[in-house]
Amino acid sequence: MTTPQMPVAIFVGGTSGIGRGMAEAYAHHLNGIAHIIIIGRDQAAANEMISSFPKPTEPNTEPSSSAGPIFLHEFVSSDFSLISNVHKTAKSLLNRLQRIDYLVLTPGVSLFARRKETKEGLDEKMALSYYSRWTFIHDLLPLLRKSEIRSGAKVYSVLSAGRGDLESVDTDDLDLKKKHTIQRCRLAVSTYNDLMMQKLAKQDPQIGFSHAFPGLVRSPMLTSSMWYYLFYPFLTFFAQTPEAVGKIQISTCMASPPGFNRYGEMGESLKYMPADELIVERLWNHTLQVTESLREE
Ligand SMILES: NC(=O)c1ccc[n+]([C@@H]2O[C@H](COP(=O)([O-])OP(=O)(O)OC[C@H]3O[C@@H](n4cnc5c(N)ncnc54)[C@H](OP(=O)(O)O)[C@@H]3O)[C@@H](O)[C@H]2O)c1
Repeated sequence: MTTPQMPVAIFVGGTSGIGRGMAEAYAHHLNGIAHIIIIGRDQAAANEMISSFPKPTEPNTEPSSSAGPIFLHEFVSSDFSLISNVHKTAKSLLNRLQRIDYLVLTPGVSLFARRKETKEGLDEKMALSYYSRWTFIHDLLPLLRKSEIRSGAKVYSVLSAGRGDLESVDTDDLDLKKKHTIQRCRLAVSTYNDLMMQKLAKQDPQIGFSHAFPGLVRSPMLTSSMWYYLFYPFLTFFAQTPEAVGKIQISTCMASPPGFNRYGEMGESLKYMPADELIVERLWNHTLQVTESLREE
Protein backbone atom coordinates (compact mmCIF):
# COMPACT_ATOMS: atom_id res chain seq x y z
CA MET A 1 0.00 0.00 0.00
CA THR A 2 1.24 3.52 -0.81
CA THR A 3 -0.08 6.68 0.84
CA PRO A 4 -0.25 10.04 -0.98
CA GLN A 5 2.58 11.62 1.04
CA MET A 6 4.96 8.72 0.52
CA PRO A 7 7.07 8.79 -2.67
CA VAL A 8 7.62 5.43 -4.33
CA ALA A 9 11.21 4.69 -5.38
CA ILE A 10 12.47 1.48 -6.96
CA PHE A 11 16.15 0.57 -7.13
CA VAL A 12 16.90 -2.35 -9.45
CA GLY A 13 20.44 -3.45 -8.59
CA GLY A 14 20.12 -1.66 -5.26
CA THR A 15 21.78 -4.41 -3.21
CA SER A 16 25.34 -3.39 -4.10
CA GLY A 17 27.65 -0.68 -5.40
CA ILE A 18 26.21 2.41 -7.07
CA GLY A 19 22.56 1.33 -6.74
CA ARG A 20 23.04 0.67 -3.06
CA GLY A 21 24.79 4.03 -2.61
CA MET A 22 21.87 5.75 -4.34
CA ALA A 23 19.20 3.90 -2.32
CA GLU A 24 20.98 4.64 0.97
CA ALA A 25 21.41 8.32 0.12
CA TYR A 26 17.74 8.51 -0.90
CA ALA A 27 16.55 6.86 2.33
CA HIS A 28 18.64 9.24 4.44
CA HIS A 29 17.62 12.29 2.43
CA LEU A 30 13.94 11.58 3.20
CA ASN A 31 14.61 10.36 6.73
CA GLY A 32 13.18 7.05 5.58
CA ILE A 33 9.72 8.45 4.78
CA ALA A 34 9.22 6.68 1.47
CA HIS A 35 8.18 3.42 -0.09
CA ILE A 36 11.55 2.03 -1.14
CA ILE A 37 11.71 -1.19 -3.14
CA ILE A 38 15.11 -2.80 -3.63
CA ILE A 39 15.32 -5.38 -6.42
CA GLY A 40 18.13 -7.90 -6.89
CA ARG A 41 19.01 -11.44 -5.85
CA ASP A 42 21.01 -10.96 -2.66
CA GLN A 43 18.46 -11.16 0.15
CA ALA A 44 21.08 -10.94 2.93
CA ALA A 45 22.61 -7.74 1.52
CA ALA A 46 19.15 -6.23 1.09
CA ASN A 47 18.10 -7.12 4.67
CA GLU A 48 21.27 -5.62 6.07
CA MET A 49 20.90 -2.37 4.16
CA ILE A 50 17.16 -1.99 4.79
CA SER A 51 17.72 -2.46 8.51
CA SER A 52 20.14 0.49 8.39
CA PHE A 53 17.63 2.87 6.75
CA PRO A 54 16.23 5.58 9.05
CA LYS A 55 12.83 4.61 10.44
CA PRO A 56 10.95 7.69 11.63
CA THR A 57 8.35 5.87 13.76
CA GLU A 58 6.97 2.38 13.83
CA PRO A 59 5.14 1.76 10.55
CA ASN A 60 1.39 1.63 10.82
CA THR A 61 0.60 -1.25 8.56
CA GLU A 62 -2.87 -1.98 9.93
CA PRO A 63 -5.12 -2.48 6.92
CA SER A 64 -7.92 -0.63 8.76
CA SER A 65 -5.82 2.50 9.23
CA SER A 66 -7.05 5.36 7.07
CA ALA A 67 -3.68 7.11 7.18
CA GLY A 68 -1.76 4.03 6.04
CA PRO A 69 1.93 3.46 6.67
CA ILE A 70 4.31 6.41 6.55
CA PHE A 71 7.16 4.29 5.32
CA LEU A 72 7.72 0.94 3.71
CA HIS A 73 11.13 -0.51 2.84
CA GLU A 74 11.12 -3.84 1.06
CA PHE A 75 13.16 -6.25 -1.01
CA VAL A 76 11.89 -8.03 -4.10
CA SER A 77 14.01 -10.93 -5.24
CA SER A 78 14.31 -11.39 -8.98
CA ASP A 79 16.96 -12.50 -11.44
CA PHE A 80 16.84 -9.76 -14.06
CA SER A 81 19.12 -11.56 -16.49
CA LEU A 82 15.92 -13.38 -17.51
CA ILE A 83 13.41 -11.15 -19.26
CA SER A 84 10.53 -13.46 -18.28
CA ASN A 85 11.35 -12.61 -14.63
CA VAL A 86 11.37 -8.90 -15.42
CA HIS A 87 7.87 -9.17 -16.89
CA LYS A 88 6.68 -11.14 -13.83
CA THR A 89 8.16 -8.64 -11.37
CA ALA A 90 6.60 -5.72 -13.26
CA LYS A 91 3.23 -7.47 -13.32
CA SER A 92 3.23 -7.98 -9.57
CA LEU A 93 4.12 -4.30 -9.02
CA LEU A 94 1.40 -3.19 -11.46
CA ASN A 95 -1.07 -5.18 -9.37
CA ARG A 96 -0.17 -3.63 -6.03
CA LEU A 97 1.30 -0.14 -6.51
CA GLN A 98 -0.67 3.01 -7.27
CA ARG A 99 2.24 4.89 -8.85
CA ILE A 100 6.04 5.05 -9.21
CA ASP A 101 7.96 8.29 -8.68
CA TYR A 102 11.57 7.13 -9.10
CA LEU A 103 12.85 4.15 -11.07
CA VAL A 104 16.62 3.73 -10.74
CA LEU A 105 18.30 1.01 -12.81
CA THR A 106 21.84 -0.17 -12.05
CA PRO A 107 21.80 -3.99 -12.45
CA GLY A 108 24.83 -5.38 -14.19
CA VAL A 109 27.83 -7.63 -14.45
CA SER A 110 31.18 -6.51 -15.76
CA LEU A 111 31.06 -5.36 -19.38
CA PHE A 112 34.55 -6.84 -19.76
CA ALA A 113 33.23 -10.40 -19.55
CA ARG A 114 32.92 -12.69 -22.55
CA ARG A 115 29.53 -13.52 -24.08
CA LYS A 116 27.54 -15.76 -21.76
CA GLU A 117 24.09 -16.71 -22.99
CA THR A 118 21.18 -17.01 -20.60
CA LYS A 119 18.68 -19.81 -21.18
CA GLU A 120 16.61 -17.19 -23.06
CA GLY A 121 19.44 -16.81 -25.60
CA LEU A 122 20.55 -13.29 -24.67
CA ASP A 123 24.04 -12.33 -23.56
CA GLU A 124 23.93 -11.84 -19.77
CA LYS A 125 25.66 -8.43 -19.91
CA MET A 126 23.30 -7.18 -22.59
CA ALA A 127 20.26 -8.59 -20.78
CA LEU A 128 21.15 -6.77 -17.54
CA SER A 129 22.39 -3.49 -18.93
CA TYR A 130 19.85 -3.05 -21.73
CA TYR A 131 17.05 -5.58 -22.38
CA SER A 132 15.92 -5.91 -18.73
CA ARG A 133 16.02 -2.14 -18.21
CA TRP A 134 14.01 -1.53 -21.38
CA THR A 135 11.45 -4.18 -20.40
CA PHE A 136 10.99 -2.97 -16.84
CA ILE A 137 10.55 0.68 -17.85
CA HIS A 138 8.21 -0.25 -20.71
CA ASP A 139 6.03 -2.51 -18.54
CA LEU A 140 5.87 0.04 -15.69
CA LEU A 141 4.96 3.09 -17.80
CA PRO A 142 1.32 3.04 -16.58
CA LEU A 143 2.57 3.55 -12.99
CA LEU A 144 5.24 6.11 -13.94
CA ARG A 145 2.54 8.18 -15.67
CA LYS A 146 0.72 8.39 -12.33
CA SER A 147 3.63 9.92 -10.41
CA GLU A 148 2.70 12.70 -8.01
CA ILE A 149 6.01 14.56 -8.46
CA ARG A 150 5.15 17.94 -9.98
CA SER A 151 7.95 17.69 -12.56
CA GLY A 152 7.01 14.10 -13.44
CA ALA A 153 8.43 10.68 -12.59
CA LYS A 154 12.20 10.12 -12.94
CA VAL A 155 13.68 7.10 -14.71
CA TYR A 156 17.45 6.88 -14.22
CA SER A 157 19.71 4.31 -15.87
CA VAL A 158 23.31 4.26 -14.67
CA LEU A 159 25.61 2.82 -17.30
CA SER A 160 27.85 4.72 -19.66
CA ALA A 161 26.30 7.92 -20.99
CA GLY A 162 28.60 9.60 -23.50
CA ARG A 163 30.55 6.38 -24.14
CA GLY A 164 28.40 5.05 -27.00
CA ASP A 165 28.85 5.43 -30.73
CA LEU A 166 25.93 5.58 -33.11
CA GLU A 167 28.16 4.55 -36.00
CA SER A 168 28.84 1.25 -34.27
CA VAL A 169 25.19 0.12 -34.25
CA ASP A 170 24.82 -2.92 -36.49
CA THR A 171 21.13 -3.08 -37.40
CA ASP A 172 21.61 -6.58 -38.84
CA ASP A 173 23.03 -7.89 -35.58
CA LEU A 174 21.43 -5.86 -32.78
CA ASP A 175 21.69 -8.67 -30.22
CA LEU A 176 25.28 -9.34 -31.33
CA LYS A 177 24.57 -13.01 -31.97
CA LYS A 178 26.56 -12.97 -35.21
CA LYS A 179 29.62 -11.16 -33.89
CA HIS A 180 30.17 -10.53 -30.22
CA THR A 181 33.27 -8.83 -28.89
CA ILE A 182 33.70 -7.01 -25.60
CA GLN A 183 34.16 -3.70 -27.43
CA ARG A 184 31.12 -4.18 -29.71
CA CYS A 185 28.99 -5.09 -26.71
CA ARG A 186 30.19 -2.16 -24.59
CA LEU A 187 29.47 0.29 -27.41
CA ALA A 188 26.14 -1.32 -28.19
CA VAL A 189 24.65 -1.23 -24.68
CA SER A 190 25.93 2.32 -24.13
CA THR A 191 24.31 3.51 -27.37
CA TYR A 192 21.12 1.46 -26.87
CA ASN A 193 20.54 3.13 -23.48
CA ASP A 194 20.59 6.52 -25.26
CA LEU A 195 18.32 5.38 -28.08
CA MET A 196 15.78 3.84 -25.68
CA MET A 197 15.66 7.02 -23.59
CA GLN A 198 15.31 9.19 -26.70
CA LYS A 199 12.23 7.24 -27.80
CA LEU A 200 10.72 7.01 -24.29
CA ALA A 201 11.11 10.76 -23.74
CA LYS A 202 9.40 11.49 -27.05
CA GLN A 203 6.55 9.15 -26.15
CA ASP A 204 6.10 10.43 -22.56
CA PRO A 205 7.49 13.99 -22.48
CA GLN A 206 6.19 14.64 -18.95
CA ILE A 207 8.61 12.03 -17.50
CA GLY A 208 12.37 12.51 -16.97
CA PHE A 209 14.40 9.76 -18.67
CA SER A 210 18.10 9.91 -17.86
CA HIS A 211 21.20 7.93 -18.77
CA ALA A 212 24.22 8.54 -16.54
CA PHE A 213 27.89 7.65 -16.43
CA PRO A 214 29.10 7.19 -12.83
CA GLY A 215 32.87 7.42 -13.44
CA LEU A 216 35.18 4.83 -11.93
CA VAL A 217 33.58 3.44 -8.78
CA ARG A 218 35.18 1.22 -6.13
CA SER A 219 32.14 -1.10 -6.10
CA PRO A 220 32.32 -4.91 -5.83
CA MET A 221 32.14 -5.03 -9.64
CA LEU A 222 35.49 -3.23 -9.80
CA THR A 223 37.18 -4.53 -6.66
CA SER A 224 36.50 -8.17 -7.58
CA SER A 225 38.06 -7.84 -11.02
CA MET A 226 41.66 -8.73 -11.84
CA TRP A 227 42.10 -5.21 -13.24
CA TYR A 228 41.70 -3.86 -9.72
CA TYR A 229 44.68 -5.85 -8.49
CA LEU A 230 46.76 -5.15 -11.59
CA PHE A 231 46.19 -1.39 -11.49
CA TYR A 232 45.49 -1.02 -7.77
CA PRO A 233 47.35 2.26 -7.08
CA PHE A 234 45.88 3.94 -10.17
CA LEU A 235 42.37 2.66 -9.56
CA THR A 236 42.27 3.47 -5.85
CA PHE A 237 43.48 6.97 -6.65
CA PHE A 238 40.87 7.67 -9.34
CA ALA A 239 37.91 5.56 -8.26
CA GLN A 240 35.28 7.07 -5.99
CA THR A 241 33.41 5.18 -3.28
CA PRO A 242 29.89 3.89 -4.03
CA GLU A 243 28.61 6.06 -1.16
CA ALA A 244 30.02 9.28 -2.68
CA VAL A 245 28.79 8.35 -6.16
CA GLY A 246 25.39 7.34 -4.76
CA LYS A 247 24.91 10.82 -3.27
CA ILE A 248 25.87 12.57 -6.52
CA GLN A 249 23.75 10.34 -8.72
CA ILE A 250 20.60 10.38 -6.57
CA SER A 251 20.61 14.15 -6.23
CA THR A 252 21.11 14.43 -10.02
CA CYS A 253 18.26 11.98 -10.54
CA MET A 254 15.93 13.87 -8.19
CA ALA A 255 16.69 17.19 -9.91
CA SER A 256 16.40 15.84 -13.47
CA PRO A 257 13.79 17.61 -15.61
CA PRO A 258 11.24 15.97 -17.93
CA GLY A 259 12.63 14.77 -21.27
CA PHE A 260 15.86 12.95 -22.12
CA ASN A 261 18.90 13.88 -20.03
CA ARG A 262 22.45 12.55 -19.97
CA TYR A 263 24.75 13.05 -17.03
CA GLY A 264 28.42 12.56 -16.25
CA GLU A 265 30.17 11.45 -13.10
CA MET A 266 29.76 14.75 -11.25
CA GLY A 267 26.13 15.08 -12.30
CA GLU A 268 27.05 17.47 -15.10
CA SER A 269 24.80 17.54 -18.14
CA LEU A 270 26.21 15.82 -21.24
CA LYS A 271 25.24 17.06 -24.70
CA TYR A 272 23.19 14.77 -26.92
CA MET A 273 22.57 14.95 -30.63
CA PRO A 274 19.30 13.05 -31.21
CA ALA A 275 19.78 9.97 -33.37
CA ASP A 276 17.96 9.41 -36.63
CA GLU A 277 14.41 8.17 -35.98
CA LEU A 278 14.97 5.24 -38.33
CA ILE A 279 17.64 3.71 -36.14
CA VAL A 280 15.68 4.48 -32.97
CA GLU A 281 12.63 2.69 -34.39
CA ARG A 282 14.68 -0.25 -35.66
CA LEU A 283 16.14 -0.87 -32.21
CA TRP A 284 12.78 -0.28 -30.50
CA ASN A 285 10.99 -2.81 -32.72
CA HIS A 286 13.77 -5.36 -32.29
CA THR A 287 13.65 -4.97 -28.50
CA LEU A 288 9.85 -5.13 -28.37
CA GLN A 289 9.89 -8.33 -30.43
CA VAL A 290 12.62 -9.99 -28.33
CA THR A 291 11.18 -9.02 -24.95
CA GLU A 292 7.52 -9.78 -25.81
CA SER A 293 8.54 -13.24 -27.03
CA LEU A 294 9.87 -13.84 -23.52
CA ARG A 295 6.64 -12.90 -21.72
CA GLU A 296 5.30 -16.06 -20.12
CA GLU A 297 1.63 -15.18 -19.48
N1 LIG B 1 31.84 0.38 -10.97
C1 LIG B 1 32.21 1.15 -11.98
O1 LIG B 1 33.35 1.68 -12.00
C2 LIG B 1 31.27 1.42 -13.12
C3 LIG B 1 31.69 2.32 -14.12
C4 LIG B 1 30.83 2.58 -15.18
C5 LIG B 1 29.59 1.96 -15.24
N2 LIG B 1 29.21 1.08 -14.26
C6 LIG B 1 27.89 0.45 -14.39
O2 LIG B 1 27.09 0.77 -13.27
C7 LIG B 1 26.18 -0.30 -13.00
C8 LIG B 1 26.27 -0.68 -11.53
O3 LIG B 1 27.57 -1.18 -11.28
P1 LIG B 1 28.18 -1.37 -9.81
O4 LIG B 1 29.60 -0.96 -9.92
O5 LIG B 1 27.31 -0.75 -8.80
O6 LIG B 1 28.14 -2.97 -9.69
P2 LIG B 1 27.88 -3.95 -8.45
O7 LIG B 1 28.35 -3.35 -7.18
O8 LIG B 1 28.43 -5.26 -8.86
O9 LIG B 1 26.28 -4.04 -8.39
C9 LIG B 1 25.58 -4.69 -9.42
C10 LIG B 1 24.13 -4.82 -9.01
O10 LIG B 1 23.49 -5.53 -10.06
C11 LIG B 1 22.70 -6.55 -9.48
N3 LIG B 1 22.63 -7.71 -10.35
C12 LIG B 1 23.66 -8.39 -10.94
N4 LIG B 1 23.19 -9.46 -11.59
C13 LIG B 1 21.84 -9.45 -11.40
C14 LIG B 1 20.79 -10.32 -11.81
N5 LIG B 1 21.04 -11.41 -12.56
N6 LIG B 1 19.53 -10.03 -11.44
C15 LIG B 1 19.27 -8.94 -10.68
N7 LIG B 1 20.21 -8.08 -10.25
C16 LIG B 1 21.49 -8.35 -10.61
C17 LIG B 1 23.39 -6.93 -8.18
O11 LIG B 1 22.41 -7.44 -7.28
P3 LIG B 1 22.37 -8.97 -6.71
O12 LIG B 1 23.76 -9.40 -6.51
O13 LIG B 1 21.54 -8.81 -5.48
O14 LIG B 1 21.66 -9.73 -7.77
C18 LIG B 1 23.92 -5.59 -7.71
O15 LIG B 1 22.95 -4.94 -6.92
C19 LIG B 1 26.55 -1.43 -13.94
O16 LIG B 1 25.69 -1.41 -15.05
C20 LIG B 1 27.97 -1.07 -14.38
O17 LIG B 1 28.27 -1.56 -15.68
C21 LIG B 1 30.02 0.81 -13.21
